[in-house]
Amino acid sequence: SFRIAVFASGSGSNFQAIADAVNAGKLDVHIGLLVCDRPNAKVVERAKQLGIPSFVFRAKDYGSREQYEQEILQRLESLEIDLVVLAGYMRLITEVLVKPLYGRLINIHPSLLPAFPGLDAIQQALDYGVKVTGVTVHYVDGGMDTGPIIAQQTLAITPEDNEATLAASIHQIEHVLLPQVIAQIAAGELKINKDS
Ligand code: GAR
Repeated sequence: SFRIAVFASGSGSNFQAIADAVNAGKLDVHIGLLVCDRPNAKVVERAKQLGIPSFVFRAKDYGSREQYEQEILQRLESLEIDLVVLAGYMRLITEVLVKPLYGRLINIHPSLLPAFPGLDAIQQALDYGVKVTGVTVHYVDGGMDTGPIIAQQTLAITPEDNEATLAASIHQIEHVLLPQVIAQIAAGELKINKDS
């Protein structure tokens, strides 16, 4: 079957949503690995509960970003991972992963890219005062939250919204959109234009 790895740094509610979709029979993939850069992150506990193997590391235990990415790449290759999903992985990715995985590496971001890349995208949208924001899923090309866009969903911001309410609405959208995109890719319904 189609094998995926999920990278996450924090709560891992998106990781949970993917696993729930798999366990409910709505997403026909195998989650072969969780990769996490924060040993105390809640997502590590979620993987344990779900019986999903994890590779947990600390960047400071390696000499460079390239070194831990080499180790990650070896693990992905030995597990024959078909697709890598960045779901709240709060680190930049280098050529070590981007080059061999290009077209098989996607990210979810809580804004309508190219607006508000980087950290705190939800707060950035509130601070700017946009009336519409949303969620983007895109192929990763090595920039920060850049690369060919696969799917976007919009969301209106109301005057009553604050960081907490908006984050909750964004997460609801993400938990549906990300498993949908993974299902499309697993079914071979999406092909990246490698020239773009
Ligand atoms: C998600 O909202 C995701 O879009 C965002 O981190 C959150 C992780 O939540 N990613 C980024 O901001 C990437 N630049 P989760 O750990 O509960 O899945």
